[in-house]
Amino acid sequence: MRSILLTLLVAVAFVAGCSRDAAPGADVAAGSDAAAAPVAEYDSLSYAQPEKVRIKDLALALAVDFDNRQLAGSATYQLDWVDPAARELVLDTRDLTIEKVVGERTDGRWEDLEHALADAHELLGSKLTIQAPRQPARIRVTYRTSPEASGLQWLTPAMTEGGEQPFMFSQSQQIHARSWVPLQDTPRVRFTYTAHVTAPQDAMVLMSADNDPQAARDGDYSFTMPQAIPSYLLAIAAGDLVFEPIGERSGVWAEPAMVGKAAAEFADTGKMIDVTEQLYGPYRWGRYDMLVLPPSFPYGGMENPRLSFITPTVIVGDKSLVSLIAHELAHSWSGNLVTFSTPKDQWLNEGITSYVENRIIEELYGEQLADMEAVIARDALRATIDDMEPQAQALAIRPDVRVEAGDPLTEVAYDKGAWFLHFLEERFGRENFDRFLRGYFDEFAFQSIPTTRFVEYAKQNLLAKYPGKATEAELDEWVYGTGIPASAPQVASPALQAVDAARTAWLEEGTLPDAGVTAAWTTQEWIHFLEGMPETLDQGQLAALDAAYEFTGTPNGEIAMRWYPLAVRSGYDRANDEIAVFLREIGRRKLIMPTYGELVKTPEGLALAREVFAQARPGYHPITTGSVEDTIEAAGQAPAE
Ligand code: BES
Ligand code: ZN
Repeated sequence: MRSILLTLLVAVAFVAGCSRDAAPGADVAAGSDAAAAPVAEYDSLSYAQPEKVRIKDLALALAVDFDNRQLAGSATYQLDWVDPAARELVLDTRDLTIEKVVGERTDGRWEDLEHALADAHELLGSKLTIQAPRQPARIRVTYRTSPEASGLQWLTPAMTEGGEQPFMFSQSQQIHARSWVPLQDTPRVRFTYTAHVTAPQDAMVLMSADNDPQAARDGDYSFTMPQAIPSYLLAIAAGDLVFEPIGERSGVWAEPAMVGKAAAEFADTGKMIDVTEQLYGPYRWGRYDMLVLPPSFPYGGMENPRLSFITPTVIVGDKSLVSLIAHELAHSWSGNLVTFSTPKDQWLNEGITSYVENRIIEELYGEQLADMEAVIARDALRATIDDMEPQAQALAIRPDVRVEAGDPLTEVAYDKGAWFLHFLEERFGRENFDRFLRGYFDEFAFQSIPTTRFVEYAKQNLLAKYPGKATEAELDEWVYGTGIPASAPQVASPALQAVDAARTAWLEEGTLPDAGVTAAWTTQEWIHFLEGMPETLDQGQLAALDAAYEFTGTPNGEIAMRWYPLAVRSGYDRANDEIAVFLREIGRRKLIMPTYGELVKTPEGLALAREVFAQARPGYHPITTGSVEDTIEAAGQAPAE
């Protein structure tokens, strides 16, 4: 069941929250802060009590120990005691060993503070309560992490590209920062940070901070992050990492064998920053670098400030998947600058970012690609939304409803969110809407806000300012309603319509699209070609596609994640060897879960899934392990060990 904790795939329990001060829900209810926080600001995933005291600055002193798969050291917090009556500091932790807690006295000396680490809660971890009756300006916790920390992955040299040095990296979003730093692990709290990190001399250490491209690799590193960030943006990585510049203010960090390919693939990053600045105002974080991780990175990308973490699976040689870079860069405005304040407001990050991503793609590569990506995203949303619980179909949950657990992130937050912004753009006009969004980023810069603030701001700065363009009821339906609103603007993609025609011709007449035509297809066209296929194909059809396009064994994960499930559903065993290779080599959840999901539906497939998982497991990230374990367990059998 650890996957519940790791993926936040949690049944959402709604507790009627008629009053702002509704009592905390039954068991998951986090800290005593639950009673005090307005329901709209209530974060069920954290024990923190920011109404009483807030971390303003964090100073980390850590040693990276590859042999013991451990970070060890201390975290010193500068505190803002908001409530004069507050007597304790409550922190989130998971699987940490707490060695010592001290507080700074007014005479500058440090004294021991009493503290208690509660039993671990399955989802939230262990609440650390520190007694601080004199409200010290600074508190320091000395601690070490567990080798199983959910927010860290430790790779042996064999799991890296170069094969010589070990590697480690963090993934803090959603609530995994607490597994490597004791923190108020809620996006409502923002803090600046510094870090002093020691590591073996040949390991380069990077953080979501002011990485110096020229830093000497000497095992001793110092970082400063002067902009206040929420805990989920705290990040660290260590390994055989080198830098290649892309432009004045951006570049790529990667293992030596990967860095050239990555810099070529992401060569347009500087232009992306320029374009986004023209649309939405200055990039406020100094440098924008990217760190290319090993293939076990469980996500496509993570918007760690100043240093996005990126999967190597988007490096396919033709720049066709760089919308991922546009996405992570866009988070520098939507997400990192203006941040969702509770787990039920995630669409504010991911939906607005997906919209901005699409605008960057349009500016840089033209409407045709932007429209193809919009159509693909909306098709995916349409395909899944009707099967979701009504509440999961809504972008956000009404402010008076208390949610007791995080909802899994689905296409709703991303694609319905982006669609909502396209709707506003269409109604108010691009120029007005661009001005609005830029104003929104300025108004709420470096703040964490709930959905209600966005809605209020939109009512004032769009609906009231340009009367007659959209109604409050329409706005309400987009934000809180289920399904896809009738007011959703439609987009046609002639390029994808041509793909539809080619697929139909093949299915009905057996004529495969001409090689001259498909040679010019981008990943998006191949995605659409495969997504429009019937549930299953016969063996002859699959073999014909393979002969023509070599889908089996494709190095493009976006194609593989669509081809292999179709092959499995159709009983096309010839793909099994390559399926096994794919599932062993890639740890990015989005790419591999659809294939696992199809495999477990038959006894033979389940056997293959178990066998492959047993081999792949040591190389998977804990987040991916959790998801695969869940899928195999749900199929009715215990996972192979
Ligand atoms: N911030 C997300 C990743 C994330 C979200 C991690 C929630 C944990 C919890 C990141 O920006 C993201 O959306 N990544 C996508 C890529 C994107 C192009 C849709 C991914 O990893 O697939
Ligand atoms: Zn995102």
